[in-house]
Formats: sequence, C-alpha cells, structure tokens
Amino acid sequence: MKINPIPHQQVFVIGAGMVGSTAAYTLLTREVAREIVLIDVHHELAHGHVVDMNHASAFTSGIQIRTGDYSEIRENDIIVITSGASQKSGEDRHAAAENNVKIIKEVLKKVMANGVGVYILMVTNPVDVLTYVACKESGLPSSRVFGTGTALDTARLRYMLSERMQVNPANIVAFILGEHGDSSFPAISAATVEGIPIQNYTTFKQKYIANITKEVREAGYKIVEEKKATYYGIGSTVADIVEAIINDKQKVYALSCVLNGEYGLTNLATGVPALLSNAGVKVLENYPLNDEERKALKKSSEILQANIQKLGY
Ligand code: LAC
Repeated sequence: MKINPIPHQQVFVIGAGMVGSTAAYTLLTREVAREIVLIDVHHELAHGHVVDMNHASAFTSGIQIRTGDYSEIRENDIIVITSGASQKSGEDRHAAAENNVKIIKEVLKKVMANGVGVYILMVTNPVDVLTYVACKESGLPSSRVFGTGTALDTARLRYMLSERMQVNPANIVAFILGEHGDSSFPAISAATVEGIPIQNYTTFKQKYIANITKEVREAGYKIVEEKKATYYGIGSTVADIVEAIINDKQKVYALSCVLNGEYGLTNLATGVPALLSNAGVKVLENYPLNDEERKALKKSSEILQANIQKLGY
C-alpha cells in the first residue's frame, strides 16, 4: 500500500488532564509523533507533565515533548482536543455539554487563528455533539474534523468477545456504532472472526450480545465509579488514531464523523465505520446493517440531534 506521509507534522494535545496527558505519553512511548506539544490553560500543569515525561526519554523513544502555543500551529498539524470537564460519577456524558461547548469554542478560535488547514480529533465528551460543533465552528471540511466516537467502545466489544470466545481480539471484526454513550449498539450481523460470520463461530453464544451491549454501555460509568476517570483506554485509542494519520495507514475505525446523508442521516456526528489516512476521514457508507441495527442507529442519531439542537446548532 502506497504511503505518503506529510513531513514535519506536529501533534498538539490540548488539555493536560488525565486523558490528554495519558494520550501524550502514549504517543511518546509508541514513537508515533516526532513533535508533541502539550497545551493547557493551566500552563504549570502542562509544564509539569512535560518535564516528568522527558525525564523518561532515556528509557522510552527518546522523542521529546514540549509545551507550546497555539500560534505555532501549522498546515496539516494534528490537533487533539481533550479539554473540558470529564464525566462525574453517576452523570452521563451529556451532563457537561453546556460547559464543554463553551470551552471547545474558545479552543477552536485559537486553533483556527492562523487560518491553516489542520486535522481536529475531538476527544472531549459528549464527543459526538462536540465533533459536530467543532466542524461547524472551525469551518473545516468534515473529512478533517472527527471524534474518537465509538472506537474505544469497539475495542471494548472486541476484548469482551475475545474473553468469552477465546479468540484473539485482533481476529475479531465487529463494531459498536452510534452515540459514544447510552444508545450505542453492536453491529453484530456483519461481524466476523476473520471472515467467519461471528454467529456461526464455534465458541459464540447469542446470549453474549445482550450482556456485552450492556457491559460496553456501562464500562465508562463503572471505571469512573472506581477511579474517578478513564484514561488508558481512550489514551491508547487517541494514539492509534493519530498514528493512522501520521503514517497514512488507511485504517478503519468506528469514528464520530459528521454525516452528510450517509446512512440516511444529516445534521449530526456519530460513530460509523470510517477509513482514516492523511487525507482525513472517509465514511464507509456501505457497511451492512440489518433492519434492527438501522433502527438502533436512527434512534441513537435522534438522541444526538436533539442534544445538538439544545446547544443551538
Ligand atoms: C470512556 C470515556 C472516554 O468511555 O467516555 O472511557
């Protein structure tokens, strides 16, 4: 596969909280980016993380991370937005929407001040709603503005299926689609174990689906209950997505994409199968969904559209 990397891409991680700092460190240890810039409204927090991470450079990739400023953003840089309030115990991911949309709009003004075309990877929750807001506010094409969506939920699904079916997660092709939240759903009808329809696979049991659907939807809540925030799963998800852009990997994820009629949907961003490369994101329109799954996607989309309209978009 022909790879055309874009030279000297910088990765700006906006927000040095648990998610942003974990994503930055994962980028560093996986040697994904050569230039990583950590920015936070609390400069000393970003600086403390940078000093701490660079002290590990003798044992990691040797790549340096630094603090910096929005004014350094150049054409084709990758902007990972993690700033905002995270999910609190017992709250759903929309609880912080009003507060976070204000923060994201401020960040986007600074990101776009140089007027250059960048990639925006939205991580802050509610990620689908904020991905849509970021696309509208930035004025960038929808191929350049996407969110982590249900990529982490999909990784959780594959892990949970692999545990039950005793198959390596890398051999399981199955997606969680829709809202990164309470209305997400597994697209099982087209799921396979390396081409074998998953429902025909020897160790598959139909009861797994209902259990795992609930487990995936509740995973974030349960981790927040136990340790106040999630950051390793999402941090690794972010690093993998950034690598797919930097190394032009043409990789398929369930990303939160702005839909312009795909799957019969408009005026929202939601988790759909999408191809990611340094050309940006391309929604895979023809992923096979059965009637039940189409209905679940529509129901999830209506929830997101209502939340987007509540914010005035
Ligand atoms: C979670 C956060 C990223 O699901 O929403 O872990």
